[in-house]
Amino acid sequence: MHKAIRIITVAGLALPLFLAAQSGSNVTLPQDKGPDKINVSTYPADQQKGYKVFAEKCSKCHTIARPINTIMTKADWERYVKRMMHKPNSGISDAQGKTIFEFLAYDQENRKDKNPSAFFKSLSDEEIEKLKAQQH
Ligand code: HEC
Repeated sequence: MHKAIRIITVAGLALPLFLAAQSGSNVTLPQDKGPDKINVSTYPADQQKGYKVFAEKCSKCHTIARPINTIMTKADWERYVKRMMHKPNSGISDAQGKTIFEFLAYDQENRKDKNPSAFFKSLSDEEIEKLKAQQH
């Protein structure tokens, strides 16, 4: 009996924390609506492996379409991967972060930079907050 109460209490406390960690992923950004796959068949073998790590790890909180359709400089990708890694429960190790960054840098140069108008510039925190306010 007491054990059941304790379990219910713990679950009740954990849920808001879980929801708080997901906030910002419950907003739809313009780039979320683009394609959610990259044809990597012409990429070098190590980048094809990197794509798998990227697709698995970067789709946990938002659609993988978000990074697939966002363009930034390599320096910004490096910072952005770190920012995503440091979010609560990101589940991304340093080694995986490095693999993902290398994939994003290659993909930026070989796919996005060749056709920049097909993609979206990354949004500022203010722009994301504004979209959130509009959608709720
Ligand atoms: C733990 C949850 C989580 C994981 C894992 C995650 N993201 Fe995010 N991502 C977010 C949130 C939340 C936002 C909204 C902006 C913010 O709060 O930083 C976001 C926003 C973004 C944006 C939008 C940029 C912009 O400003 O327009 C990109 C690109 C992105 N993430 C890429 C990635 C990549 C690449 C990975 C994998 C390395 C990843 N995300 C993994 C939570 C996550």
